[in-house]
Amino acid sequence: MKDKKTYKPCDLVIFGALGDLSRRKLLISLYRLENANLIEPDTRIIGIDRHEGNGEEFIETARKSLQEFSSETIQEAVWARFSARLSYVKIDLTQLNEYQILNKVTDNKARVLVNYFAVSPFLFKNICQGLAQCGVLTKESRMVMEKPIGHDLESSIEINDVVASVFSESQVFRIDHYLGKETVLNLLALRFANSIFTTNWNHNTIDHIQITVAEEVGIEGRWDYFDKTGQLRDMVQNHLLQILTFIAMEPPADLEAHSIRNEKIKVLKALRPITSNNVDEKTVRGQYTSGYIKGAAVPGYLEEDGANVASKTETFVAIRVDIDNWRWAGVPFYLRTGKGLMGKRTEIVVYFKQLPHNIFKDSFRELPPNKLIIHLQPNEGVEIEMLNKIPGIDEHIKLQKTRLDLSFSDAFKKSRIFGGYEKLVLEAMRGNPALFLSREEIEQAWTWIDSIQDAWRHYNESPKTYPAGTWGPIASVALLARDGRAWEE
Ligand code: BG6
Repeated sequence: MKDKKTYKPCDLVIFGALGDLSRRKLLISLYRLENANLIEPDTRIIGIDRHEGNGEEFIETARKSLQEFSSETIQEAVWARFSARLSYVKIDLTQLNEYQILNKVTDNKARVLVNYFAVSPFLFKNICQGLAQCGVLTKESRMVMEKPIGHDLESSIEINDVVASVFSESQVFRIDHYLGKETVLNLLALRFANSIFTTNWNHNTIDHIQITVAEEVGIEGRWDYFDKTGQLRDMVQNHLLQILTFIAMEPPADLEAHSIRNEKIKVLKALRPITSNNVDEKTVRGQYTSGYIKGAAVPGYLEEDGANVASKTETFVAIRVDIDNWRWAGVPFYLRTGKGLMGKRTEIVVYFKQLPHNIFKDSFRELPPNKLIIHLQPNEGVEIEMLNKIPGIDEHIKLQKTRLDLSFSDAFKKSRIFGGYEKLVLEAMRGNPALFLSREEIEQAWTWIDSIQDAWRHYNESPKTYPAGTWGPIASVALLARDGRAWEE
């Protein structure tokens, strides 16, 4: 077996080390990687922020983050190893001369410099200039960033240009944390390692596909960010389109980053534009009002802390997506995502076509179609809904719908399912770009999203309301009903 720790050690520099992203996600993921023995022994983690502080205080912050944002018990032996890697340096990121200190605290000969930009994009220019000017960067150095990479095509080009002025495209690792999820990656295995899903995966056998990413939570104190963003930009531009590309792409030649990315880009290019001519029939915007989730009363979006009561920002989106290529002609993809919904559920449902003739009329007037249900979270797994004969010696054959159920936790009892961030932080340290987004993918996705956003702006309608704790506005049901279909409930 290949040694788990064969990558070159890194100096992982976290810009914004005391911020939310670092405390809620990064430090916890790194601790878990330590626990799994996956961090190269000589790798160091250097926290950078504008506040005064020292290594001990940073270690204390990291420990508190684990206690506050993670449910696991800290193991002292693991913690000792982990905390020995941590150090802290104060840099005011807007002051170029302050970056010189990086020459003292990093060693770009012994280790690869991995710069994690865990700050707002308006600081990216400063950081890029600071890094370039102080001379720590080499061809091996990397930068890692994540959404929001802009709020539209233009602003995303600006950010990518700033980064490109210092880092070449192969040095840039853009995170979409859904690509670190085990079940999203499993889509590759499901589609390209199983012959039953190769010849059947197209318009000949598939009727339509549904992708649901539902969240119970509201906006959790992020009103200000969210209100400027909305669910389309926050979730569809990235996570849902990524899931869609994995389901819809052609088989890549291999698992190399450029092979996978090229296939994903082809799908994004084939998305039929939604414009002011068809936005009404293709999309639904919703906003939650007060309601009950699991029996507890929850406030509406406009009643959340810090809310602007006149806001028209959407917390729910449903879209009919058409992909104009040979494989998917005539097969709609229905996407739906929202906050304040009935439950946390991310799943893909592939509806196969109905058979042309039914010889089991005693059981069903019309034979229900087969379904492949892929649960991404929670309870990761795959189910196939099919028809079977009910055992018995009746005169007539009686059928019943049954499910073949493969739950990952049952099937892979010994394997721990790693979180998205853990996987991606590790891959960034390993220098494996396959699970990160290319500039072209992001810009292509924005082009498609911008057109929807423009069309919505053109009509300037208020979103349809839905009580928190439901599956979204009635209009979302009507979106499918118009096509003679219904959401999987
Ligand atoms: C983030 C969004 O990218 O994804 C959040 O900004 C959302 O609004 C989150 O809640 C959902 O991630 P997950 O992994 O919990 O499905």
